[in-house]
Amino acid sequence: MKTITINTKPFNDQRPGTSGLRKKVKVFQTPHYLENFVQAIFDTQTDLRGGTLVLGGDGRFYNREAIQVILRMASANSLKRVLVGQGGLLSTPAASCIIRKYQTDGGIILSASHNPGGPDEDFGIKFNTPNGGPAPESVTEAIFQRTTSITQYDTVESQSIDIDTLGESILGNTTIQIVDSVKDYADLMMQLFDFERIRQLFDSGLFSMRFDAMHAITGPYATHILEGLLNAQPGTVMNGKPKVDFGGGHPDPNLVHAHELVALTSGSNAVDFGAASDGDGDRNMVLGRNFFVTPSDSLAVMVASAHLIKGYSDGISGVARSMPTSQAADRVAKKLGLACYETPTGWKFFGNLLDDRKITLCGEESFGTGSNHIREKDGLWAVLFWLNLLAIKQQSVETIVKEHWKTFGRNYYTRYDYEAIDKAAAEGLMDHLRNRLNHLPSQELNGYLVEYADDFAYTDPIDGSRSERQGIRIGFSDGSRIVFRLSGTGTEGATLRVYLEAYEADPAKQMQDTQSVMNNLVETALVLAEIEPRTGRTKPTVIT
Ligand code: G1P
Ligand code: ZN
Repeated sequence: MKTITINTKPFNDQRPGTSGLRKKVKVFQTPHYLENFVQAIFDTQTDLRGGTLVLGGDGRFYNREAIQVILRMASANSLKRVLVGQGGLLSTPAASCIIRKYQTDGGIILSASHNPGGPDEDFGIKFNTPNGGPAPESVTEAIFQRTTSITQYDTVESQSIDIDTLGESILGNTTIQIVDSVKDYADLMMQLFDFERIRQLFDSGLFSMRFDAMHAITGPYATHILEGLLNAQPGTVMNGKPKVDFGGGHPDPNLVHAHELVALTSGSNAVDFGAASDGDGDRNMVLGRNFFVTPSDSLAVMVASAHLIKGYSDGISGVARSMPTSQAADRVAKKLGLACYETPTGWKFFGNLLDDRKITLCGEESFGTGSNHIREKDGLWAVLFWLNLLAIKQQSVETIVKEHWKTFGRNYYTRYDYEAIDKAAAEGLMDHLRNRLNHLPSQELNGYLVEYADDFAYTDPIDGSRSERQGIRIGFSDGSRIVFRLSGTGTEGATLRVYLEAYEADPAKQMQDTQSVMNNLVETALVLAEIEPRTGRTKPTVIT
């Protein structure tokens, strides 16, 4: 098969963000746009030549077309083998699992995570390294640099390649192996969790659950594992068929976007347990009957109870959370004598800590939790963790979390997002805060005494790499905290995120409504950052 070399010119906007390169589908459809980025991966990740690549995506619009482009380029770039999820489908956690299990040289995942899909919506591509995790900044930066000087890419001429039939085919010197999208992942889950016990919970008839796959990639995984292997009632998984546009919805598992599920966990006929996952299957939301578990609390509960779960019964080495995530896990770690790390936003910062066995569990406030079993956050894993815990404790979600608060205190938590605001205004707002950092400590703001104020910077304890300007942190003497940062995953203007947290040790005061507890702190944040005058927004787009 003849390699064809195509002349191209660099695009100036191919620097990956928090999680890969994300753009509108239309941008990716621009001639050579996808190809340039893929060639930059092959040019910089030289182990792929003669090596094995894992390839799959969340099934969104343009997934199948992009897979064809990448397969042809993989062949022209002398890859020995490409493992492709059947139908081009792999959840992000399943891709990470397969990259690790077969000791491959990395993977390309096509996804824009929780961003909407469809011809006018978002698409994305990211490279994961052989440890199964998102490429660290040194790698994404090298790929980006390569895109700035690229002049040609290699491909082959071929018919459309069958990606739907399991088995192997040959393209030039490259073997294309279509693999079951679910099996390896399900096998891993069976090693970690007590499936027998969870099955008994479902078989008891006393427990009801709904899992909202949000028309995205987790559908086939959840259906096979929950309804197939664990005997959950048929219909437990809702919106379980992946659609290219996620049914027109926003596949982000939070109280706003997963409203259908929220309704099923509310009221007198509510189910006992509700869970949802996002576009590419790495996020999760966990709900009890009339009860929402914040992702930060979910991580803390997991740290406190990991010893009960089969895969972690030997104990965990430590925990990490992203900076804006509440400090609930820190309190557990302290009590249990575990190491605890605070990293910048983005899963890639957990990779070294996991590889070096400094931590076992990690999580982010943005509905992400995971462990050393793979190198991505993992939605269904978190759901199975909770199911296993419910089966062991025979208590409701609400009781488990409230007992947790009694022991460790409660970290009230909320996040305000201002989406698609003017980029210059957003940057001006952050600069303004930055300029005030030195003056804030020991000042009183709206009754809160500022203890510290800084722009978060992180030095990776393993490779010494430094990441600066990762978000403004303002801590107060009563343990509460405000964090401001700009999103690195948006595709339109800028998104300002304001993260707020307040600590309550007294069990008598732990049952209040989050938004009313946070009112004053929110007010303080709005005034301090001059949000309305600078952005024109009187209220956030989403509160989570
Ligand atoms: C967001 C979340 C972050 C998460 C990332 C990828 O990034 O805040 O925690 O790792 O999506 O799922 P952001 O848009 O804030 O940069
Ligand atoms: Zn995701």
